[in-house]
Amino acid sequence: MPHDTEPMMLTACRTGPLTGEARVPGDKSVSHRALILGALAVGETRITGLLEGQDVLDTARAMQAFGAEVERVSEGSWSVHGVGVGGFAEPSGVIDCGNSGTGVRLIMGAMATTPIVATFSGDASLSRRPMGRITDPLRQFGAEVTAREGGLLPVTIRGAADPVPVRYRTPVASAQIKSAVLLAGLNAPAQTVVIEAEPTRDHTERMLAGFGAAICTEVTEEGRVITLTGQPELRPQEVAVPRDPSSAAFPVAAALIVPGSELRVPGVSRNPTRDGFYVTLAEMGADLTWQNEREEGGEPVADLVVRHSALRGVEVPPERAASMIDEFPILSVVAALAQGTTVMHGVAELRVKESDRIDAMARGLEANGVVVEETRDSLTVHGMAEVPGGATCRTHLDHRIAMSFLVLGLAARAPVTVDDAGPIATSFPDFLPLMRELGADIG
Ligand code: S3P
Repeated sequence: MPHDTEPMMLTACRTGPLTGEARVPGDKSVSHRALILGALAVGETRITGLLEGQDVLDTARAMQAFGAEVERVSEGSWSVHGVGVGGFAEPSGVIDCGNSGTGVRLIMGAMATTPIVATFSGDASLSRRPMGRITDPLRQFGAEVTAREGGLLPVTIRGAADPVPVRYRTPVASAQIKSAVLLAGLNAPAQTVVIEAEPTRDHTERMLAGFGAAICTEVTEEGRVITLTGQPELRPQEVAVPRDPSSAAFPVAAALIVPGSELRVPGVSRNPTRDGFYVTLAEMGADLTWQNEREEGGEPVADLVVRHSALRGVEVPPERAASMIDEFPILSVVAALAQGTTVMHGVAELRVKESDRIDAMARGLEANGVVVEETRDSLTVHGMAEVPGGATCRTHLDHRIAMSFLVLGLAARAPVTVDDAGPIATSFPDFLPLMRELGADIG
C-alpha cells in the first residue's frame, strides 16, 4: 500500500505554459462497479480502461477473496469470471480496502444479503470514516453487524440468510449509500427501493441496467425513486470505462491558472451527475470546449479542450454539491487565483471524505497566503491576482488534497510543498509523469 511507505514530500514550482494531451486514468467510480458487478454476473466480464489505482486494485483483490476469478489481461484490460448474485464465498481473511470508502461501502452492500461472514478493515484515513450510514440500511435487510465504537472499521457483517427487501431514503446525498443498498437488494426477493432527495452519481443504476437487472428511476416530488427487482441473473458485459472527470479536474485546473496553457483531455465522462465542476468553471469564465460527444460503455463521453482563462469568483449553490463533491478541493485552488470571492455552499459532506477536506484546504490555502472563511458546511475563498505560496501543506492521507496543492504550486509566486504525495497512487497513479510531460515543474 502506498500509504504504508515513507511519506513522499513533493514540491511544485511556478511553470511556463502547460501544453499537450492529458490522458487521465479510467473513472474510479465506474471501475469499482465494473469489478463488483462482474463478480456478481455469471460468466466472463471484460473491462477495458480500468483505473489501476490502489483503491481499485484493493476492490479487485476483495472480489477474488469472495470467490470471483479476476485477472489482469494487459494494461487497463481485465477479465472477471463472476459467481452470480448470491454466489459469493466466505472469505478466509480480513478484507482490507485500504484508503477506499467507495470500495468498502459497495462491497459491504454486495455481500450483506448472502449468508457468509466477512470482516472489513482499512488504513488510518478509512478507519476514521463513518460506516453506520451503510450498516444501518444493511441491518434492515437482516444482516448482523458489529463495528468499533461510533460505527467505525473494522466492521464484521454476517449476511442475511433470509433477506427482506428494503425501502430506504438516504439521509445524506451519497451515491455510496444508494449503491450499497441497491447491491444488497440484488439478492433480496421482490423490490428494493432507494429514494434520494438530491441526485447523486448514477453509475450503479446505469451499469445494473447494462448487466440486465430490472431497475427504473422515477423523478417525483420527494426526489429520485429508484426501484430494483431482486434476484436477477446478471449477464456478463464488455465494460469500457470512460476517463475520470474528477481526475481530469487537476490538469484542467492547472491549465486554467498557468498563463499560456492549452490542453486537450480526450474521452472524459460527461455524465450529468458528475459535471458540477465544469458547470462552475464555465460560470467563472473558463475557456472550455467539448468536442466529439459520444456514448461509451453506457456513459456519455467527450473530448475537452481547455485554455488559460481570466476567472471570476462565483457562488456555488448547495444543490450542485453532489455533482462535484470530489472537486471542491481543486475548485478552491482555482478560486484562489480568480478575481473576487467564491463561496461553496452545502459542502458538509467534505468533512467525512478521505480527510476533513474543508479544514485541509482552508489551512493549506491560509499557509500559502490566501484568505478563506469556513463554516460547518461552506467554504469561502477570496481570490487574488497572485498567490504568495511558499508553504508546506499537510495532506492527511488524501490524494485530492495532495494533487490540489501541487497544482497551486504551478501558479503561486513561491514553491508549494506537500508533506506526502504517496496517496495520489490511489486514484491517479500517473499524475506525476503526466503533469511533467505537460510541462509542470514538480519534483
Ligand atoms: C463515490 C461517491 C462519492 C464520492 C466518492 C465516490 C462513488 O461519495 O465522494 O469519491 O463512487 O459512489 P459519497 O457518495 O459518499 O458522497
